[in-house]
Amino acid sequence: MGSGYEDAKRRIRQHPRRWLITGVAGFIGSHLLETLLKLDQAVVGLDNYATGYARNLEEVKDAVGAAAWRQFTFIEGDIRALAECQRVCAGVDVVLHHAALGSVPRSVEDPLAAHENNLTGFVNMLIASRDAKVARFIYAASSSTYGDNPDLPKVEDAIGRPLSPYAVTKYANELYADVFARCYGMSTIGLRYFNVFGPRQDPEGAYAAVIPKWIAQFISGEPVYINGDGETSRDFCYVDNAVQANLLAATTENAAALNQIYNVAVAERTTLNELFELERALLVKHFPQVREGRPHYREFRDGDVRHSQADIAKARELLGYAPTHRVREGLEEAMGWYLRSLSRQT
Ligand SMILES: NC(=O)c1ccc[n+]([C@@H]2O[C@H](COP(=O)([O-])OP(=O)(O)OC[C@H]3O[C@@H](n4cnc5c(N)ncnc54)[C@H](O)[C@@H]3O)[C@@H](O)[C@H]2O)c1
Repeated sequence: MGSGYEDAKRRIRQHPRRWLITGVAGFIGSHLLETLLKLDQAVVGLDNYATGYARNLEEVKDAVGAAAWRQFTFIEGDIRALAECQRVCAGVDVVLHHAALGSVPRSVEDPLAAHENNLTGFVNMLIASRDAKVARFIYAASSSTYGDNPDLPKVEDAIGRPLSPYAVTKYANELYADVFARCYGMSTIGLRYFNVFGPRQDPEGAYAAVIPKWIAQFISGEPVYINGDGETSRDFCYVDNAVQANLLAATTENAAALNQIYNVAVAERTTLNELFELERALLVKHFPQVREGRPHYREFRDGDVRHSQADIAKARELLGYAPTHRVREGLEEAMGWYLRSLSRQT
């Protein structure tokens, strides 16, 4: 584990803060909550349950225990309403803004919903954070911002044209955060996540992410579909790495690290075919029938980029980021949760 991260956690314990997590009932938000409550922090969480679940919060409650849970205040509300953003920002030191409608294909289906939630909601949160004088505004950006730039690995400054409405909203978030830093002196940091995965990521529905969806399909004996030829690749990032990046960004004392964008990933590339084999190899110990499973190939999906791999030098140098989990390690660590939670649903 990177010593920068250990230092950050020590500083957080020594100087407790009041944190706001938007999207707290979602996948990444609930992990931020769990980590912060285990560090004895006071946390306010906002969510409208659009794609998040009360069960995620229940799991955090069980994981942290009753005493830490009392440090958490949940507010059911919507970032599309400025007044609700203002209400939750009052008295907050650090905002970890994660509420958004994820998924590229969802945004292709409904660009207005992507715009309202991911962009209008984002500007609302910036205004509310500015007015509440929060010390730091950390937000979930996205690797989709690299768009049609084919260069590998992805370096923060070299982006292409967006390939989906979702990517437009996430890129516009970065532009707005930069402008709020310039115009109003805010301290912001954008974290461009690359395919985050781990416990509590939703396996259900048309817009589910590939890792939990495939694991649920393997377990239930359903066919596993690969969009395209399987040679599409991604830099799959275990959720602990994303949590680390947030805590480092929230606590960095390096002035040069502020008002910047960072790739958050592992700097490795896994093809979908390789991912299929990795998952199958881990699951076969528990479900012998999985050995016979073969992928079903179907057409490529609109708006998807072909390859994705991060250069993480900037986060390493300016934030002290050092990912603790590669894809296989993340899958192994999450396997207990997948087995408990995904087998239940079958
Ligand atoms: N998971 C990834 O691989 C990934 C990659 C890049 C960026 N991101 C970004 O990270 C953030 C968190 O993603 P996640 O994977 O945890 O998704 P998620 O869907 O599990 O979490 C998002 C949460 O935001 C909530 N939300 C949505 N719209 C809201 C609104 N208008 N008001 C209040 N709450 C609202 C949802 O109910 C949900 O709980 C998002 O901003 C997403 O765009 C995620």
